[in-house]
Amino acid sequence: MESLKVGIIGCGTVGSGVVKLLTGNKKVISERIGKDIEIAFVADRDVEKVKRLGIPEEKIVDDGFKALNIECDVVVELIGGTTIAKDIVSLAIEKGKHVVTANKALLADYGEELFKKAKKKGVSLKFEASVGGGIPVIKALREGLVGNRIKRIYGIINGTANYILTEMTEKGITFDEALRKAQELGYAEADPTLDVEGYDAAHKIAILSTLSFCRWVKTENVYVRGIKDITPVDIELAREFGYKVKLLAISKLVDEELEVRVHPTMIPEDHILSNVNGVFNACLIEGDFVGDTLYYGKGAGEKPTASAVVSDIVDIAIGNKYFVPECLFKEGDKPKIKAPEEFISSFYLRFTAVDKPGVLAKISKILADYGISIKMALQKSININGGVPVVMTTHPACKSNVQKAIEEIDKLDVILKPTFVCMIEEL
Ligand code: NDP
Ligand code: HSE
Repeated sequence: MESLKVGIIGCGTVGSGVVKLLTGNKKVISERIGKDIEIAFVADRDVEKVKRLGIPEEKIVDDGFKALNIECDVVVELIGGTTIAKDIVSLAIEKGKHVVTANKALLADYGEELFKKAKKKGVSLKFEASVGGGIPVIKALREGLVGNRIKRIYGIINGTANYILTEMTEKGITFDEALRKAQELGYAEADPTLDVEGYDAAHKIAILSTLSFCRWVKTENVYVRGIKDITPVDIELAREFGYKVKLLAISKLVDEELEVRVHPTMIPEDHILSNVNGVFNACLIEGDFVGDTLYYGKGAGEKPTASAVVSDIVDIAIGNKYFVPECLFKEGDKPKIKAPEEFISSFYLRFTAVDKPGVLAKISKILADYGISIKMALQKSININGGVPVVMTTHPACKSNVQKAIEEIDKLDVILKPTFVCMIEEL
């Protein structure tokens, strides 16, 4: 049987999953595609780890660069990061190898350079595992939805952040407690910065936006805010207004401008995305002909991520070379990125105020001065930092106006703490 030779560089969580899948399901795959997928080499700094997976010694290399001298058709980059990984991917392409990667950070920042290089060389650069782990969301965009103009994407695409918010919602615990649990269970990294500060989700929504809206979208084009300042109080108050708090990645065309953002978002509690809990991921994509479509599954971990990596390898084996959309390589009009100050959204505002007559009037006046219309208001008789929470939701308003109003309100002598602000998406 004809075979495709695959070299794996990086045998950590994902790499070892890929080795296990390619060996464990070897027969299933070759029966399906009529070709054999052969592991040409596995490179990792820890040679013993690779040996324990049953890879023969002559196929194990202790360095990714050395491995590139070994003959193979496909190089699978699974070391992560944007330095060595970038050099390895570039070199593999220069050597005429197809490349598969799960590295969202690399593609979000250097995708344009790498995809152009791959196209010029006539090799594939595939990346199904870079967004949504095991969920075939990239394949859905590039194949199933290819005839549609994409209107909007809403993603819960960071499992760690979703686990933390779910625990805070269900158990009433603080962010720090939930993060500790996530680390104990191995969901969050020892350094969970990229997850909780929103940058991992930003990398992923940059990739989905690039595929959907025909312009290179990089991390720097994404408005990012993490989940560290979310408190159980806001989760509970959101519930009283009928919302759940999720770290939502959003990409949508508004007035022909592209709005790409990642931030804690209040969404209606009866919406299907509100019920995506724990480490699960989901992505809602609306196309102009298909309408709303939804993709759900495990967004991380050894097995789900390996499943996505192997689907790319199989694509290459069967000759599905697919590059990112052609329009990305052409000059011409591209949607502009909307500035965050121009976002129009409904807002949740929690003021920490003294409990005295006239407080609501003072707040409402400033909001009115900036053209911000209050939708609902609520005052709770609980003590936070010596004051009471006064909570309002607004009708759609311009973010810069809300910012200016809050700056003014926070200077009032009846306001005791900086106001907590959260955007609302009615979906
Ligand atoms: P790991 O840290 O578990 O694995 C990376 C492995 O690569 C480590 O064993 C590391 O060794 C090795 N390595 C680093 N540099 C080299 C080198 N120069 N030559 C050979 N081996 C090297 O990472 P993951 O498996 O978790 O992630 C891999 C990629 O997949 C990342 O881009 C990540 O973002 C992405 N991804 C991960 C998911 C997950 O659930 N884990 C989900 C989706 C995507 P050492 O430890 O000694 O440095
Ligand atoms: N750290 C990521 C997450 C891994 O928690 O979703 C998958 O990309």
